[in-house]
Amino acid sequence: MSGGTAPRFPRLLVTGGAGFIGSCFVRDVLARKDGTHITVLDKMTYAGNRANLAPAEADPEQAARLLFVVGDIADASVVAPLASEVDAIVNFAAESHVDRSILDPEAFLRTDVMGVHVLLEAARAEAERARRGERAGAPRMLQVSTDEVYGSVETGESREGDLLEPRSPYSAAKAAGELLVRSYFVTYGMDVVVTRGSNTYGPYHHPEKLIPLFITNAMDDQQLPLYGDGLQRRDWLYVADHAGAIGHVLAHGVAGETYNVPGDNERTNRDVVTALLDDLGKPWSLVRQVEDRPGHDRRYAMDGTRLAALGWTNRMPFERGLAATVEWYRANQDWWRAIKSGEWTDYYQRQYGARLAGSREAGR
Ligand code: NAD
Ligand code: DAU
Repeated sequence: MSGGTAPRFPRLLVTGGAGFIGSCFVRDVLARKDGTHITVLDKMTYAGNRANLAPAEADPEQAARLLFVVGDIADASVVAPLASEVDAIVNFAAESHVDRSILDPEAFLRTDVMGVHVLLEAARAEAERARRGERAGAPRMLQVSTDEVYGSVETGESREGDLLEPRSPYSAAKAAGELLVRSYFVTYGMDVVVTRGSNTYGPYHHPEKLIPLFITNAMDDQQLPLYGDGLQRRDWLYVADHAGAIGHVLAHGVAGETYNVPGDNERTNRDVVTALLDDLGKPWSLVRQVEDRPGHDRRYAMDGTRLAALGWTNRMPFERGLAATVEWYRANQDWWRAIKSGEWTDYYQRQYGARLAGSREAGR
């Protein structure tokens, strides 16, 4: 072991660790070289990508502390044995895209609700084993949730105790998942914590989400489909800050608590698109105003006092993070061009074909 203090949880099960934020968490934890061992459990849906873990797998010392298992968090026969060998479970696994939840909600219920249930049951069985003296302690479980559970926030900032008013099949499923987690704290006294992160961006972001879609389309001089008036507001959080905050809550969070993870970078979508086009040196004329997302949440904004009191501060300012992200997509075209092929073409046609056909100039 070299570098850093001894980790509180030396053996982690990281579900969804081949996705965008999960892989950043895995890369960053392994790169600390503090002796932490990680088992990644990932179903490898369209969003899972083994290449996201390439930097860790290329380093023999880190690779020796990483075990990669392909499997479904909703499959108890896969989850139970893995849970028996870890000190904590960090659940990133989810169907995560609002637009896909509108096209086809069922997978969201299976993974974002039933999957969470299966993980909780596995953790509960381990807590029972610990009570019987069959293992050293009960595992902690951290559920990665989202600011979308609060619904659209017209003014002010959501606090952790606010009403949950999710408005899409995705956010409703995420809310159900985290409420189950809370119920296991109240009912079974389990060691659980929840984080609610805001809109995350950065390297390895699947190119179906706003920022990477627009960067990669613009690089190819393709149209940029802006939903509705583009004045929706999101609070942008750099991926390493999101992953770092999750690690901080895992280590220091109070059992049964929920922590907002804001980015403190609220922007309209138009502002974000303007900034990324400036970074790329591409014209606004690529932007097309298309039919809006049904039920589109107008704004998310969270109060971060509780997380700040726990000692966490984000590091990346938005302008620098966006420039670094643009640079990453410029330098890693093999990564995203491989994703934007095959099944991608069908998805793109389904999501944007009619929208772009009926689009108009977005006007500045
Ligand atoms: P992502 O879609 O990039 O990755 C999800 C990963 O989970 C993929 O690797 C996928 O293969 C895997 N997965 C899906 N279903 C699975 C299953 N049944 N069993 C095992 N693995 C499965 O998502 P992301 O953007 O990295 O988000 C990670 C988590 O953070 C999600 O829970 C999401 O709700 C939450 N979140 C995301 C954001 C954001 O802006 N991206 C913000 C706040 C919260
Ligand atoms: O707020 C946290 C959430 O952020 C996470 O829980 C989700 O997993 C994550 O996908 C993200 O959800 P959004 O719906 O906010 O992200 P998305 O990138 O899909 O869209 C961001 C904004 O951009 C939103 O207002 C919709 C708009 N948009 C998106 C796409 C893909 C467009 O205008 N055009 C597009 O083509």
